[in-house]
Amino acid sequence: MITGGRRLNGTIAISGMKNAALPILFACALNRETCVLENVPYVSDVLTTLSILEEMGISVEWRSSTTVAVNAAGFRPCTSPDNLVSKIRASSYLMGVELGVCGRTHIAYPGGCKIGAARPLNYHTSGFEAMGAEMDPPNGHGFSGYAPDGLHEGKITFDAPSVGATVNIILAAVLTPGVTTIINAAREPHIVALGNFLNMCGAKVTGAGTSEIHIEGVSALHGCTYPIIPDMIEAGTYMAAVAGTGGCITLTGVIPKHLESVTSKLRDMGVDVEEDEDSITVSSEGQLKAVQITTAPYPGFPTDMQPQFGVLLAVANGAGIIQEKVWEQRFAYLDELARMGASVPYNSFTAFTPGNQKLYASSVTATDLRGGAAMVIAALIAEGTTEIKNIHYIDRGYDNLIGKLREVGACIVREEVFLESTPLQAGSSS
Ligand code: EPZ
Repeated sequence: MITGGRRLNGTIAISGMKNAALPILFACALNRETCVLENVPYVSDVLTTLSILEEMGISVEWRSSTTVAVNAAGFRPCTSPDNLVSKIRASSYLMGVELGVCGRTHIAYPGGCKIGAARPLNYHTSGFEAMGAEMDPPNGHGFSGYAPDGLHEGKITFDAPSVGATVNIILAAVLTPGVTTIINAAREPHIVALGNFLNMCGAKVTGAGTSEIHIEGVSALHGCTYPIIPDMIEAGTYMAAVAGTGGCITLTGVIPKHLESVTSKLRDMGVDVEEDEDSITVSSEGQLKAVQITTAPYPGFPTDMQPQFGVLLAVANGAGIIQEKVWEQRFAYLDELARMGASVPYNSFTAFTPGNQKLYASSVTATDLRGGAAMVIAALIAEGTTEIKNIHYIDRGYDNLIGKLREVGACIVREEVFLESTPLQAGSSS
């Protein structure tokens, strides 16, 4: 429940990045020694991942609220629990780990937010095939594959710079003899973080952060201690929130360079953004200029910031436009925004934001992780009290959202709603 129409002022400490922590946690399964990960965000996708690893014989020990020690000496490949695998998209990384460790893989269909028709994994499986794996055709239950002679080096070119496929091929190649090359690799900071983590463990990954990555196989990894990079999307979300409400907040523990495209867009909208070594201060009077936004792989404007900016463009002065070039179903949140009085027409890839919409408090539903974050921003802007349902989506990727927003003056409470028990739907969930 959020009572909006209030300016936000104060400081928010940004947590570790979910989409860096997930690949690095699965990468620990390649290691037989202990890896200590710091600045791990306390979000449900991380908890689900840790549960998957534990069910597969990996020991997990929280040493503080943000530090977790992982030891995979007892790792049992191909034993992942279907019910947990089907909850998150990052489960797909088990394929690269299992093929890399023992030459075979078997997982249920991964889950993930409904932001694409099918969220295919064809780049992943064709990459594994280029390394000598024989992947079974999809059978409605999940993915299986087998490399009769173990994996061998491969040269893989992606049609699109897929984050997940880049992660998966890196994981498959770390212990594979020879040099595997990825062309048109994703360049996101979390790919660089994965490469740095693996190299700290003795791997030989070069080129992470560029569109050509080389992985020279090694025989074994050793343990390490590694801090997870800050979550640029969490930071961007709070930057968008204060842009919409007005006020001044400082985000600490961030890497401003990761947010360059978001900062640039906010400045175009008339928002003041000051960058420091590891902090960003954003101040706004809440009056925003309309702009055009086109999402793109890093270092372009991140698709994971699109819903948050869709809300800002709904209230900005003048007409704007959003072109969503990464996912074909990422405007569902606009249907919820319509319930708050904003009418923003859209089709699969484009939203036409008329601007000058007034938002009214209402009861809305989080459609997915970032769509839910967009609803939080809309509720913070709208006067009156807005109810947001299905906030488990938001819990997937925002660590202590309520506490952080209260820190800067938001009026927000979480209510536990006990739904009458409904039979769980079979198959993949959120
Ligand atoms: C990761 O998803 C993120 N999830 C997403 O963040 C993010 O939106 C996305 O990268 C893009 O940055 C995690 O890291 C857990 P992709 P991923 O493979 O890896 C197509 C969030 O909000 N594609 O880069 O699934 C795909 O359909 C989440 O935190 C294929 O066609 O994204 C999409 O159009 C939501 N075949 C495009 O590539 C494939 O085999 C980019 O997908 C793989 C991808």
